[in-house]
Amino acid sequence: MSGTIRFLLNGGLREVAGADPTRTLLEWLREDARRTGTKEGCAEGDCGACTVVVGELIDGAVRWRAVNACILFLPVLDGRAIITVEGLSKDGELHPVQRAMVEAHGSQCGFCTPGFVMTLMAMWLNGGEQDAAKINDALAGNLCRCTGYGPIIAAAQAMGGRADASADAKIAEQLEALRREAMLELDFTDRFSGARRRYLAPRSADELAQALMAHPDATVLAGGTDVGLWVTKQHRSLDVVVSLNEAADLRAMRETDDAIEIGAGARYSDAYGRLTQLWPDFGEVLRRLGSTLIRNSGTIGGNIANGSPIGDSPPLLIALGAKLTLRRGGTTRQMPLEDYFIAYGKQDRQPGEFVLSVSIPKPKPGAVFKAWKISKRFDQDISALCGAFQLTMDGERIASARIAFGGMAATPKRAGACEAALIGQVFDEATLESALAALDGDFAPISDMRASAGYRAAAARGLLRKLWAETQGQAIRLVGTGGLVDA
Ligand SMILES: Cc1cc2nc3c(=O)[nH]c(=O)nc-3n(C[C@H](O)[C@H](O)[C@H](O)COP(=O)(O)OP(=O)(O)OC[C@H]3O[C@@H](n4cnc5c(N)ncnc54)[C@H](O)[C@@H]3O)c2cc1C
Ligand code: FES
Ligand code: FES
Repeated sequence: MSGTIRFLLNGGLREVAGADPTRTLLEWLREDARRTGTKEGCAEGDCGACTVVVGELIDGAVRWRAVNACILFLPVLDGRAIITVEGLSKDGELHPVQRAMVEAHGSQCGFCTPGFVMTLMAMWLNGGEQDAAKINDALAGNLCRCTGYGPIIAAAQAMGGRADASADAKIAEQLEALRREAMLELDFTDRFSGARRRYLAPRSADELAQALMAHPDATVLAGGTDVGLWVTKQHRSLDVVVSLNEAADLRAMRETDDAIEIGAGARYSDAYGRLTQLWPDFGEVLRRLGSTLIRNSGTIGGNIANGSPIGDSPPLLIALGAKLTLRRGGTTRQMPLEDYFIAYGKQDRQPGEFVLSVSIPKPKPGAVFKAWKISKRFDQDISALCGAFQLTMDGERIASARIAFGGMAATPKRAGACEAALIGQVFDEATLESALAALDGDFAPISDMRASAGYRAAAARGLLRKLWAETQGQAIRLVGTGGLVDA
């Protein structure tokens, strides 16, 4: 047991003893390390002013990703490498990313520019990108409300990418050494309350199970894109935090002929490629979940465990017939994902129990899967509603239907009456009309700041119409992210 966190900051070893486990990397950078190039805009993962690049050792190689430092707890950096905006230029020479930003006139104010530069830096380390649409996606978590993105996209295209990754070999060696000494448990006395606080970092699912049996009421920490805000925005004091960031086996994705199983620790960015291959609409919804920065930290396991009625992945997974595996001590149990969500803020999870994985059946012949997210903005916005549909066709007839919505009830929920109106029918206009009427009875949505009840009900009907039109070979385009028109 050790209370010292060790990591590389811009290539140099840093050791931090006695850190508050919920102190954010941003606070430490600005207040302790005096690396003030990294800025605070929102402190909730929205604006990207705090973007840094983190490198971690995965299967022997260093993987670099841009993340939000404002919601990243410091102990999660143990055994990792951090690059901040101060780490780019060397001996008075600008880094290729900085040079491209200057030459393309991409440099803007001192708040947003460091974040943009660091998102581009991660892109450069990963070999660069020329496709403007992909660059746009990568920049979706870096907001500027004043000028424009055009010169920054031009800079991204002009900067090229790193051709020689040999420098990573030395970093990998250093990280390997740090990992051997990695901190497993951190004790901390809160300087305000005097209370004892703890942070545990088990190395495997088995160790996680033990840690949670010993601390059944601990806060489980995955990517922290929800938990981080409890601290930065709600000022909650988390007495015991159990992180699953060191449990490599929880990040695994396993595949058989019939199913794909995603470990609770797998980040969205790890799962995105394969899920997009299997279900392009799943990929499209994930592309709009938060931002690249959020998806580089957040997990599908956290999205499920959090239990929000407007989480984007649960309706998709429910429509696909996913099964959730939970573990408590040495015992695991599995359930259809929809059964996990009992009521608003209430899930079927016991103290000491954790989400181990989610298993999704692979597409069967005749299966059609469609999913759409409706939100006010395209990127980086929470859904007003999200609808997912899986039909299995037997010739002209619908043999099975699974339909689920987020944002339409207190939990992510199946549209049982609508499904029943479709099963066994030919999907013609008469069937559509009866399914629409049934859908009205499935939900009684609420009005809130994201959408009115009337809007939600109308948009859900619109998505069912879109499903029908697309299965008839008509293309229906979503205008902006809300209304529907003929293509
Ligand atoms: C700027 C921003 C934009 C966002 N946009 C979206 C969006 O568009 N759509 C969307 O759905 N969400 C969005 N979110 C919410 C968040 O990113 C997701 O819910 C994410 O999937 C949470 O995963 P995480 O790994 O970060 O979870 P964490 O924050 O680490 O944990 C979330 C909750 O799950 C629990 N938990 C985590 N893992 C486990 C486990 N294995 N077992 C038991 N409990 C566990 C935690 O204790 C906590 O209660 C956004 C968040 C931010 C900050
Ligand atoms: S400060 Fe806005 S995303 Fe971190
Ligand atoms: S926020 Fe920096 S220029 Fe707009």
